Amino acid sequence: MNERPHIVVVGSVMADMTAWLDRVPEAGETLVGRSFLLGFGGKGANQAVMAALMGARVSMVACVGGDSFGSDAIANLSSLGIDTHGVSVLSEAATGVAPIWVDGNGQNRIVIVPGANSLMRTDQVDAALDAAGAADVVICQLEIPLACVRRALERGREQGAVTILNPAPFLDEAGDLLALADWIVPNEIEFDALAHILLGADAVAPGSPAESLPRIVATLGASVLVTHGEHGALLCRPGEDGVQKIPAPSVSVVDSSGAGDAFVGAFARALASGAPPLDAAQAAVRCASLTVGLPGTQASFAQSAARLAPALDES
Ligand code: RIB
Repeated sequence: MNERPHIVVVGSVMADMTAWLDRVPEAGETLVGRSFLLGFGGKGANQAVMAALMGARVSMVACVGGDSFGSDAIANLSSLGIDTHGVSVLSEAATGVAPIWVDGNGQNRIVIVPGANSLMRTDQVDAALDAAGAADVVICQLEIPLACVRRALERGREQGAVTILNPAPFLDEAGDLLALADWIVPNEIEFDALAHILLGADAVAPGSPAESLPRIVATLGASVLVTHGEHGALLCRPGEDGVQKIPAPSVSVVDSSGAGDAFVGAFARALASGAPPLDAAQAAVRCASLTVGLPGTQASFAQSAARLAPALDES
């Protein structure tokens, strides 16, 4: 059991601007929202924060702009003990932002405006990974340039780290990055898009990931863990029979945004500590389920981690 594994996250940082409303507006319609929260977000930062809250040593590689959103985001990461030496401040750029609408059912709609995130360069990734030192796990998502994702996963593989790709938001051009990941962790929408590319439209039943999952795993030779909202998650590994279904506890949903990131951060932490993959996935499902009962992305993580991290340490 590695009690304080080192996880390197190469990914995005955003300022989340979340509005809660009963329903989303039609084109041309103005609605009155119920509440608003300016919070810390970005899939990369969210995953880094959950991994750190769950007890991992975490290094973040990212880009922010030369504005207060950027300096606040770095201060937030640092306050959680995350190594931010790999976070570059690009003074000419704006920090990425994410306007988010959460409807009366707790379902979110997110727009990202990547700003500085899209200016990350591969030489920054190289320098930051050199400085961060050996990692047990390297995690990437798709909110930064794909060349940087490729470099991070390649470097992770070279070092002998476990590589995790959360292919979110899914991009068709990311198809050839999948081969660099030991674990691919999509949600069901991203899984359908990925299956469409790998197997063709006619071979995929949208919304039924369990059907095509074994063929995807056989095609990629990688382990795939699909997050499936209130249904929990689906796990399938090369060389193992069938799909393991991991049910989620029944919870009332206030805001599902960031739950997928909580899942990835918790899964990475458990896996890096030496937990068997099924146990790590079960811990991740429990962790993500607890976050949806609270508003905000990172703002909803601390309580969940406080309840689950001690159990992870004992296992
Ligand atoms: O997954 C949720 C995240 O997606 C938000 O924090 C937002 O910033 C976008 O990156």
